[in-house]
Amino acid sequence: MKRDFTKLLDISRDEVTYLLEKAKYLKDIRTRGIEHRPLNGKNIAMIFEKASTRTRVSFEVGIHDLGGNAVIMNANETQLGRGEPIRDTARVLSRYVDAIMIRTYEQGVVEELAKWASIPIINGLTDLYHPCQILSDLYTIAEFKGGFDNLKIVYIGDGNNVANSWIEASILFNLNLSMAIPQNYRPLDMLLEKAKKNKKFMITDDPYEAVRNADVINTDVWVSMGQEKEMEERKLAFASYKIDDDLLKNAKSDVMIMHCLPAYRNQEITDSVFERYQNIIFTQAENRLHLQKALLEWLLT
Ligand code: CP
Ligand code: NVA
Repeated sequence: MKRDFTKLLDISRDEVTYLLEKAKYLKDIRTRGIEHRPLNGKNIAMIFEKASTRTRVSFEVGIHDLGGNAVIMNANETQLGRGEPIRDTARVLSRYVDAIMIRTYEQGVVEELAKWASIPIINGLTDLYHPCQILSDLYTIAEFKGGFDNLKIVYIGDGNNVANSWIEASILFNLNLSMAIPQNYRPLDMLLEKAKKNKKFMITDDPYEAVRNADVINTDVWVSMGQEKEMEERKLAFASYKIDDDLLKNAKSDVMIMHCLPAYRNQEITDSVFERYQNIIFTQAENRLHLQKALLEWLLT
């Protein structure tokens, strides 16, 4: 039976662990210039209804590395953008390609695509989730820290797609996850209910409380794609959720700072903190490539 990756909880803890191992292997052989082409003869469509730099390039390069062919579809240049139903698009594309990656607004669109397509569907970001990002971020933490089981992981900022996917990761792995998110911008209730069963999970309004003894701190933009009209009110609501030197005094001295990018300097993170941790942040971006290659190979072979 085909599998989809519409959100992190579509796959099990063991499957995530397998993908992290596989990504390590794929990163290693790529560094050594060893060819590995399990997607020879396979086509993967990528539908974009929102902008992207990392997701677009890491998937396209990854598909090419694995011997496959990427078909890029900007939604506003396709019939989808003119109102062709998802269920028809799903069945048409299933006749041409072997998998679809989609970046869109509504999670329901990804689920509808998964329901009607006979091929694997990958969520490349919706308003609710960003599972490829968090799968890859787990890998990056393990790469720098040797694992994530005994670490205090913190998320500061908006209760958005990235935050929801972090909560899914915490449910899957019983992570020690602390979140500092303003009351009016909290993640999905349904996920918080589940996450709170784990005594190591906490959510607060106070970033100083959340980062105490942190091993890893994640943040994301205050204004996600599609929320541009809320820019001014969001800047006010999140003003005290900036990652700066003062906040970092409360974290461990060897804390990792992560940002899924794009970053807005001097909003969610100061320029000096960003530049001090740039190696981690750009390795985090690179690892999208290796992780998504592992995911594609697993779903397609
Ligand atoms: N982090 C991330 O998904 O980046 P893009 O929006 O550039 O794809
Ligand atoms: N939360 C951000 C993530 C961008 C990769 C957004 O949805 O715009």
